[in-house]
Amino acid sequence: MVLPEEQARLYQPRPELLPAAHVPSLSHYERLYQRSVEEPHEFWGDVAKEFYWKSHHTGPFLNYNFDVTKGRIFIEWMKGATTNICYNLLDRNVNEKKLGDKIAFYWEGNEPGDSAKITYSELLHKVCQFANVLRSQGVKKGDRISIYLPMIVELVVAMLACARIGALHSVVFAGFSADSLCERILNCGCSLLITADAFYRGDKLINLKHIADEALQKCKDRGSPLKKCIVVKHLGREEIAVDGTCTKSPPLKRLCQDVQILWNPATDMWWHELMSSASTECEPEWCDAEDELFILYTSGSTGKPKGVLHTLGGYMLFAATSFKYVFDYQPEDVYWCTADIGWITGHSYLTYGPLANGATSVLFEGVPTYPDVGRMWSIVDKYKVTKFYTAPTAIRLMMKHGEEPVKKHSRKSLKVLGSVGEPINPEAWLWYYRVVGEERCPIVDTFWQTETGGHMLTPLPAATPMKPGSAAFPFFGVVPAILNESGEELEGEAEGYLVFKQPWPGIMRTLYGNHQQFETTYFKKFPGYYVTGDGCRRDKDGYYWITGRIDDMLNVSGHLLSTAEVESALLEHTAISEAAVVSHPHPLKGECLYCFVTLRDGHEFTKNLTDELKKQVREKIGPIATPDYIQYAPSLPKTRSGKITRRILRKIAKNDQDLGDLSTLANPGIIKHLFNSRCDTKQ
Ligand code: PRX
Repeated sequence: MVLPEEQARLYQPRPELLPAAHVPSLSHYERLYQRSVEEPHEFWGDVAKEFYWKSHHTGPFLNYNFDVTKGRIFIEWMKGATTNICYNLLDRNVNEKKLGDKIAFYWEGNEPGDSAKITYSELLHKVCQFANVLRSQGVKKGDRISIYLPMIVELVVAMLACARIGALHSVVFAGFSADSLCERILNCGCSLLITADAFYRGDKLINLKHIADEALQKCKDRGSPLKKCIVVKHLGREEIAVDGTCTKSPPLKRLCQDVQILWNPATDMWWHELMSSASTECEPEWCDAEDELFILYTSGSTGKPKGVLHTLGGYMLFAATSFKYVFDYQPEDVYWCTADIGWITGHSYLTYGPLANGATSVLFEGVPTYPDVGRMWSIVDKYKVTKFYTAPTAIRLMMKHGEEPVKKHSRKSLKVLGSVGEPINPEAWLWYYRVVGEERCPIVDTFWQTETGGHMLTPLPAATPMKPGSAAFPFFGVVPAILNESGEELEGEAEGYLVFKQPWPGIMRTLYGNHQQFETTYFKKFPGYYVTGDGCRRDKDGYYWITGRIDDMLNVSGHLLSTAEVESALLEHTAISEAAVVSHPHPLKGECLYCFVTLRDGHEFTKNLTDELKKQVREKIGPIATPDYIQYAPSLPKTRSGKITRRILRKIAKNDQDLGDLSTLANPGIIKHLFNSRCDTKQ
């Protein structure tokens, strides 16, 4: 139970952080912030000086149109400047900053005791080798490469190798199904897939190659030209050093287990075989600052995933700068972001941001509960982690198991704690602050999106007094506004639509292959603004509080899902005639899926059918989309024009009888029936 005074209290940054802090006070933040939004060219121009540019921009430093009524939406930062992001992350750190021997990643495997480390110069060598492999396979600038790997060093190597030769990576989270992978490969026309044999997630063996094979078959059936698949031997691996020498597999029995994989000699190639003969030197492709860097799919409210496209120059500046300030990065830090690289957090704050700063990070393959619920804190102690970044869903899971597993570990190395992915409820915030951080570590609650590339609203660790549950103030270069339904900007204390008024360097440039959808989704509703799709409140002190999604999206354990994509997965079942999916509060996941289904004639609603439907959604989308509740509905409440009223279904799911105006309904009689047959417990 959180007392109102606890929540209203301001939690001050700790004085220990101040002497070395990049931003040691609120007034310092305000000065920098003003400059960043009033003189963006100067502010970001100074940041750009820290990086290597082969040539300078030819046109304006920033050129854009945010107003659909004035023409095509576009955003360009430093167009005409040439650089290579991989060169900036690796070569510059190794050669200019002399960080070659510094650890880039401590890799911690799923199984305790299975670990490895890689320095900046080793990483550079591997990336060059793999870039040469890609080139030898005919990959060139502008090609799209799909990466479907667990959390292993090869994932980072593959991404940076793409960036080195100007190819676009499209990383697909290794928890996604064959259908989801196939959709993503087809959408951006990938010419090559990189995957692995298999891996363990906790206790569970995931035969990744098998899922990838299924996806490739589906792609082939749908005419995809993808004909090459590079396979990392991970579970059945032998350690292969840069110089080609081999040591036997780690002495862990389960890792040596033979995974049965099917091998298709026409398409499949072993990663280590290709690497063994590849040179460790590779001239980077010099790219325009506005050339494409990567595509990352995120759920769209129409049901089809959207290929968010980021370009390299602005994204590099924004990921690097936000990492530096938001975590108050110091050279001796050991930083750990628990997010999977398959999500934007893993792109910006496990790969690009930390490496651009020459940071040492932990890359963790496993889950917080394996082999026990103290795993996170044992990793924190093992590597003396100083800055730790996770999601509210993980914090709530830890809370459920009480303080003891946390307190068993020292955690004294921790200095800053971060939260991302969904609103953090004050109770979880206070637990994180008191139990994990022992009131010593500020919490940076970072609000942002796949589309924004980096942090938009966040406290800074040594500058911002914190309020539990508030993402505080805008990051540098970010100008938020709150609009009412008619699009008017609201001043002072207010609640409404969260929008941004001018571009920051990390903003997406388009949706891959669908610029029209990009304009419609983000710029049409309120011309002149980027529309986040989130509701937001500003309090009397100017703090921002995210109130949740205002579109048909829901956030399960920090992952965005659209109700439409789950509905279409349900509708593919022959027994289902109509489906409506709504969000339902969940104590650990934040939100979960509550589904209403109507049946075709001749079908019965049975436990067996519920299980089949859950399996179907899991297979179509992935385990994160598995519904918690499926309720049979003889019919669905609809407006007279035939639109399903999800507003009412949400209330039925929550058993909230306060239904408001029902006059537009064509069939109000069904509501009572649906209340009476609610699913009360998780099925
Ligand atoms: O609703 C907001 C929520 O997550 C959405 C973005 O999801 P995605 O693109 O998958 O990126 C997640 C990681 C950045 C947002 O529109 N969200 C993200 N962070 C927060 C949040 N909601 C509240 N507080 C946050 N800190």
